[in-house]
Amino acid sequence: MAEINRRQLLAIGAGVSALAVLPSCSPSQSEQKPDEKKVEVFSWWSGPGEQEGLDALTANFKKNNPGVEFVNAAVAGGSGTQARSVLAARLQGNQPPDSYQLHAGLEAADDIKANRLEDITYLYEANGWKSKFPSGLIEKLSIGGKIYAVPVNIHRSNLMWFVPGKLQEWGITPAKTWAEVLTQATALAAKGVKALSVGAPWTQLHLLENVLLGELGTAKYNGLWDGKTDWKGADVVKALDTFKSLLAVSVVGTDDWQPTLDKVLGGQAAYHVMGDWAAGYLQGAKALKYKTGYDVTASPGTAGVYNFLADSFTLPKGAPHKVYAEAWLKECASVEGQDLFNPLKGSVPARLDADKSKYKDYLASALQDWQNQSTVVVGSLVHGVVANNAFKSEIEKAYGIFVQDKDSAKFAAAVSKAYTDTSK
Ligand code: GAL
Repeated sequence: MAEINRRQLLAIGAGVSALAVLPSCSPSQSEQKPDEKKVEVFSWWSGPGEQEGLDALTANFKKNNPGVEFVNAAVAGGSGTQARSVLAARLQGNQPPDSYQLHAGLEAADDIKANRLEDITYLYEANGWKSKFPSGLIEKLSIGGKIYAVPVNIHRSNLMWFVPGKLQEWGITPAKTWAEVLTQATALAAKGVKALSVGAPWTQLHLLENVLLGELGTAKYNGLWDGKTDWKGADVVKALDTFKSLLAVSVVGTDDWQPTLDKVLGGQAAYHVMGDWAAGYLQGAKALKYKTGYDVTASPGTAGVYNFLADSFTLPKGAPHKVYAEAWLKECASVEGQDLFNPLKGSVPARLDADKSKYKDYLASALQDWQNQSTVVVGSLVHGVVANNAFKSEIEKAYGIFVQDKDSAKFAAAVSKAYTDTSK
């Protein structure tokens, strides 16, 4: 994907629409239950900062669809790592839920190509949705002009969270470059504080994608995912070395993102790099106030850049309660639903005509940044936008080795080979 600004994303989109034609697989043989008034929705939104938004959307769905039982099939685990393997097993066994969460981008393209999803262009046409979402976003949920999912939000990955009072106490201001973070780390160490808090492997990769973005800039970052940037190049290896140095000044745990962020709140570390679902958690479960209780800045080196991802919902082939799945998708696509969901979730609406006044504090600035024509939009690796599942899984494997042997050049070479192997 070449470097694109937001205007271009809206106008042309990228990637997915250019993908190959669907292979012909046989549709799922799961049992249709048209008489049951029920809908089963599968996501990974459970736990603080994840569940509140889903609950609000669900409550509105129930209000709009009286008598329809809502089955929440959420599988816990940030970024959907666990959920996706449970889902894969269900789909394999022809037990699809009525709708499941999916990231826009190459993650969606994989499911479309695997013939897992119904073409829902008819819903877009019947409800006039095509003009209600950025066309570039719709293209990231489409192949061959057919649309396969409904986007509920836009999240930003490249953010660094901190507690302003603590930074003041330690005599530092929010770092603007990764070199500055490393300098601050020395001063912080003298006070018994780590520079960063990181957790489970996916949170480490989340940090890694944003270190690469900050160190390489948007054009080279985009090139990592479309073969234009050589992973083995000196600049990439140097960025990986910087990442390695950052891990060395971090408190590295195995927890999901919430307890990892808690270490920043508790003063064990200065920063946590995480997507803006963190705002949902900090404002909601933690009841902290923006700018005093917590604050946030673009992750170092990425001011003016929106490393985006979008959650969407699908109509899987063989969904047992298709009519109610369609009702769920209508809820997800509605202005009302999006404006109930996103302020709690810590995301901005995917809809272009949402009510801006509902987005306050951090989210008011996020919406402004997202809509700013000069903001440069790039896509997240960890959250499904820029790498297909096979490439992403090879990166995860290579990363597992990298954390053991700390060999940046070897990691770069492994990822470079994985790109070649998986893009054939
Ligand atoms: C992302 C997802 C977000 C948020 C995050 C943490 O992949 O798109 O909505 O839930 O994981 O779990």
